[in-house]
Amino acid sequence: MSVEGKNRIITTQRLLEMKAKGEKIAMLTAYDYTSARIVDEAGIDIILVGDSAANVMAGHETTLPITLDQMIYHAQSVVRAVKNPMVVVDMPFGTYQGDSKQAVFSAIKIMKESEADALKVEGGAEILESLRRILSTGIPVMGHLGLTPQSIHKFGTYSVRAREEEEAKKLIEDAIALEEVGCFAIVLEKIPAELGAKVASCVKIPIIGIGAGNGVDGQVLVMHDMLGINKEFSPRFLRRYHNLYEEMLKAFRNYITDVKSGDFPNENEQY
Ligand code: KIV
Repeated sequence: MSVEGKNRIITTQRLLEMKAKGEKIAMLTAYDYTSARIVDEAGIDIILVGDSAANVMAGHETTLPITLDQMIYHAQSVVRAVKNPMVVVDMPFGTYQGDSKQAVFSAIKIMKESEADALKVEGGAEILESLRRILSTGIPVMGHLGLTPQSIHKFGTYSVRAREEEEAKKLIEDAIALEEVGCFAIVLEKIPAELGAKVASCVKIPIIGIGAGNGVDGQVLVMHDMLGINKEFSPRFLRRYHNLYEEMLKAFRNYITDVKSGDFPNENEQY
């Protein structure tokens, strides 16, 4: 099924088929028009407008400060760029936890104003009521378990989750609950690889990992991390595909040198 008026070829149904056929799902974050166009052309399956925008776009220490309107602004920019991938938008902290009525209001606002394809929320059993109400409106929802950055003040650390049996058991129960309530996929963040594989085998919906090993159905990375624009962030799960920080630094320095020396603009670069 494709969405009328858009060309999207990746749908919730297609993702289920991909899992069933053992085709891996590739997902990346994007927050702006220009980079979303490139990610689309590269052939990505899902673009996540992540609330990691709070970190990499706005410089906040946690994802908590980003607002609903800021997420909508990023989502609109990405949706304008994208033809093929599914666009999933993170519901920001405080817009869906606790009050299921507010959760539906927030979800509808994001979908109406951004024209994205789906939403992502963090949490398991504790947010089921909100999830039920959002899903009842027909909005597809992706879950997010394991290290859930919106709960960083509860965890106190960004280290690996669910190493202990009790937390691992709850994570599996939560994944099953998310599938049963109607989520179309789940992100699993920073958990032991063995547990990631176990969860993926317990449910029919795709499990997309970030630091959850290779036994899951797909992978997601934050674009700025995989491009190497961030020098500080180096978790074990991160594979850097470029050293963009150094490349950009070199380009900016060369530009400054050329301006200061009078080399730029040259005769061909003026009217
Ligand atoms: O906000 C984000 O970028 C995310 C990914 C880390 C999965 O939730």
